[in-house]
Amino acid sequence: MSVNTFGRVFTFTTWGESHGPALGATVDGCPPGVALDEGWIQQFLDRRRPGSSKFTTQRQEADRVRILSGVFEGKTTGTPIQLMIENTDQRSKDYGEIAQAFRPGHADIAYHLKYGIRDYRGGGRSSARETAARVAAGGVAQAVLRDLAPGLKITGYMVQMGELHLDRANFDAAAIDANPFFLPDAAAVPAWEDYLNAIRKAQDSVGAAVEVLVQGCPAGLGAPVYAKLDTDLAAAMMSINAVKGVEIGEGMAAAALTGTANADEIRMGNEGPRFLSNHAGGILGGISTGQDIVVRFAVKPTSSILTPRRTIDRRGEEIELITKGRHDPCVGIRAVPIAEAMAACVVLDHLLLDRAQTGGRRGRIG
Ligand SMILES: Cc1cc2nc3c(=O)[nH]c(=O)nc-3n(C[C@H](O)[C@H](O)[C@H](O)COP(=O)(O)O)c2cc1C
Repeated sequence: MSVNTFGRVFTFTTWGESHGPALGATVDGCPPGVALDEGWIQQFLDRRRPGSSKFTTQRQEADRVRILSGVFEGKTTGTPIQLMIENTDQRSKDYGEIAQAFRPGHADIAYHLKYGIRDYRGGGRSSARETAARVAAGGVAQAVLRDLAPGLKITGYMVQMGELHLDRANFDAAAIDANPFFLPDAAAVPAWEDYLNAIRKAQDSVGAAVEVLVQGCPAGLGAPVYAKLDTDLAAAMMSINAVKGVEIGEGMAAAALTGTANADEIRMGNEGPRFLSNHAGGILGGISTGQDIVVRFAVKPTSSILTPRRTIDRRGEEIELITKGRHDPCVGIRAVPIAEAMAACVVLDHLLLDRAQTGGRRGRIG
């Protein structure tokens, strides 16, 4: 039984815990001959890295990735790629009381009920430290996509933080990497800063919504029924820590629409079909249409807060708990690069799956 492995053709298996010496990913199924080095993967890890702004945890991890296998003279060899990231700033003393008590909103109680044993240091395997390994695997996927689907671009950004929503009229992709929120609206950044500062001062945390846009995705990725592209994207996003809801395209808002409003009407363009809208989020019948793929997800507020919460300990005693340590006041922020990595892995996996099944054969129109 392999429950730590993602993907069908392009696969990765992550290993490691928050406070172990290292964690990483074993990537398999990567095509040979793709240019890859540690510097390429590092750029993705740097976007996820903790301690990069006052709005993320102050745990200082360099998150330096090492490639231990599968790359020779700067190119992938088609053999397993072992990626390793050392944990350098774990402080077990910050987490001592988690050994005995179950933090509300955390996996402590569920792990205890299931396994009866857990590495409680920093949340062990349930810690979002694990996502560093996925981001590294996503970097490999991005290198392959650069070769196999050169026009494909994956962009993640925040669309909501608590009461604040992105004003889509101001959408500016160039702003995303120039502020600590991955927010595509530079003018709104001061208001977002004030809001999150106030949340933090109140010793609280807040939820968020993140959107991932896949542009330039070829039509034909995905498969009917059990390998739908939207199914796999939803599962990938839902596998990220603290994600509680995923939408494709119109998502839950589709429940309020009529069929007239929701129909993505089709016209013939110069280079094939042209859709007049994109309520479907770029996927019909589980298969990409060539439109932008739009995935959105909700992230719950950080559970570790300095406000006392009621819980129980291992003896069954009812207690109050303050979760000290270094925590992000809004974990949705650092979920952005993780979601991009997961999207890259899903799209590449489906690209390779499609090549294996259809060999690139396509239906023609006109
Ligand atoms: C990038 C990232 C960082 C996170 N950091 C924290 C944190 O500092 N404190 C915390 O309480 N939860 C944090 N979380 C969320 C927990 O890992 C998660 O809520 C917990 O493991 C329980 O899993 P679940 O919420 O998916 O059910 C983080 C999540 C992400 C995506």
